[in-house]
Amino acid sequence: MKIIITKDYEELSEKAFEIMKGVLATREAVLGLATGSTPLGLYRKMIEDHLQNGTSYRGMRAINLDEYVGLSPENEQSYRYFMRKNLFDSIDIDLANTYIENGLAPNAEEECLRYNALLARFPRDIQLLGIGANGHIAFNEPGTPFDSETHVVALTENTIEMNARFFKDKNEVPRRAFTMGIKNITDAKKVLILACGASKADAVYGLVKGKVTEDLPASILQQHKDCILIADREAAALIGG
Ligand code: GLP
Repeated sequence: MKIIITKDYEELSEKAFEIMKGVLATREAVLGLATGSTPLGLYRKMIEDHLQNGTSYRGMRAINLDEYVGLSPENEQSYRYFMRKNLFDSIDIDLANTYIENGLAPNAEEECLRYNALLARFPRDIQLLGIGANGHIAFNEPGTPFDSETHVVALTENTIEMNARFFKDKNEVPRRAFTMGIKNITDAKKVLILACGASKADAVYGLVKGKVTEDLPASILQQHKDCILIADREAAALIGG
């Protein structure tokens, strides 16, 4: 794993953009994208670069990690909405080439199979990730098998609480979500994982120096052949350097 430690969030976002820019050089790149607050700085830089330098996303595809069960794409808390608001509506990507699980799918099992087939059809050049305070990636909570593919998860109390800040009330946070599995994530050619702030320091320690264990889902990335971690000083506090 390549590790980059930055002085602050701004520098983290710049470094992340440099890596993303390398992937964007391929006109038909397939980008695995993520939600959460950590990638927002990177998305702002992608938008700036599109506006200032004309980098085009016309031939590209974007495939997202996860989506809440029960939320429609128009719901402001859905991840589909998040992606439009924070990236897709400000670049020239064709929305038909952006993919996310359907939170309203009537048959969850079929939806998972559909998503796995999509992932197999469009191998990702990069998978962007944040990390949960408990080491989760996407919505793969501790204990998720490393060979998992797209599935529905019951969110842990910890994750519900962490995500409650985006909702008016904690009771509005959906209890279940679709998520790419860990195998889907590690199938990407390159993985870029971003961590920011002291609340992520334990998870970053487990990711970099801990035992590879399903108890800390991100630890599997130690075995990925092209994984880059960018962490700010606070998130990197326990790994030294
Ligand atoms: C959620 C998302 C994850 C994300 C994590 C951290 O649980 N499903 O994909 O990595 O939150 O979010 P943040 O970047 O806001 O700390």
